[in-house]
Amino acid sequence: MIHRSTILGIGHHVPSKVVTNHDLAKIMNTSDEWIVQRTGIRERRFIEENGTGASDLAMPATKMALEHAGLEAKDIDAIVFATLSPDFNFPGSGVLLGHKLGLPGVPALDVRNQCSGFLYGLSVADAWVRAEVYRRVLVVGAEVHSTGVEFTDRGRDVAVLFGDGAGAAVIGAATHPDQGLKSLEIHADGSGAKDLWLEAPASAYIPRLTHEMLDRGIHYPQMIGKQVFRWATEKMPVVARSVLDKAGLRPDQVDLFVPHQANLRINQLVGDKLGIPEAKTVHNIEKYGNTTAATIPLGLSEAWREGRCQRGSNVLFAAFGSGYTWGGAVITL
Ligand code: ACO
Repeated sequence: MIHRSTILGIGHHVPSKVVTNHDLAKIMNTSDEWIVQRTGIRERRFIEENGTGASDLAMPATKMALEHAGLEAKDIDAIVFATLSPDFNFPGSGVLLGHKLGLPGVPALDVRNQCSGFLYGLSVADAWVRAEVYRRVLVVGAEVHSTGVEFTDRGRDVAVLFGDGAGAAVIGAATHPDQGLKSLEIHADGSGAKDLWLEAPASAYIPRLTHEMLDRGIHYPQMIGKQVFRWATEKMPVVARSVLDKAGLRPDQVDLFVPHQANLRINQLVGDKLGIPEAKTVHNIEKYGNTTAATIPLGLSEAWREGRCQRGSNVLFAAFGSGYTWGGAVITL
């Protein structure tokens, strides 16, 4: 019986094209000052080439995670791919990634839980590993947002927030008795589904997509920002405290806090509520914007390589996003 699962290796990848707030201010009515003050974002990365999907960004992130784990692609027994911006509507990005990795027959599950996608994926991988269904599960969070937001004054509230990027983690059995995933919670409340959603094309409508829908711009994400902000700052501290309690840890025993990166102000408020200092909190939103399902593995991967955590460190995750969905986890690396 496997006691706990853990992160055997972690990796990330962002495209090389840097888009600053000043670049966006040239094409829509916004400013560096507005974006930095409200969100903390200074720049983000966008894909450069037509035909680059979430599964393509996931490839280098996966290779880095495998190298970190000392494993090869053939060692992966299952793939869980979290994204709200799959390469295509169907099939999911997981099968595309499996094919690119040369893994015929390896199961691939796509997770559609937006900013909480990585934690939902981690929860599935953890259960599979502990139940000995699969030994090593690749959990990916990857997004290409830049092709799906509206770079006009109408779309500016959403367009300035998002960036492209990927993170990947290889999950397997923990070998040390104190190591591994000590608690994890995931939640959802669909009453707020339309506070942040992408409405069309919609299988609920006949036809799914019309010229009139395109004119209204409902094929771009729509968000009631203030509402999302309120929910996020309420739910994230609650779930973080709960997973810390379940793991038997106090906030001062957290070595690294990796929150989802939607807004620097949200994370500062959450950190304050928990009593976790900024020095222990990962912020990379200033460089990458919101990369949704990718933010947590991307943040952990960078922090690990920068020496901000190592084997034995207690790491806290917390996420909140569209759905609404949210979650938290505590892992001793
Ligand atoms: N540049 C300049 N002005 C803008 C921009 C922009 N890019 N966007 C909106 N504005 C204007 C608005 O039109 C409004 O003008 P008005 O007062 O004349 O009407 C003004 O700025 C204030 O707009 P608000 O939306 O009220 O701004 P707010 O202070 O709420 O900040 C923000 C907006 C940053 C989006 C904030 O609400 C937020 O971060 N919300 C949470 C986002 C989030 O967490 N998303 C979830 C994760 S994403 C996911 O799951 C996919």
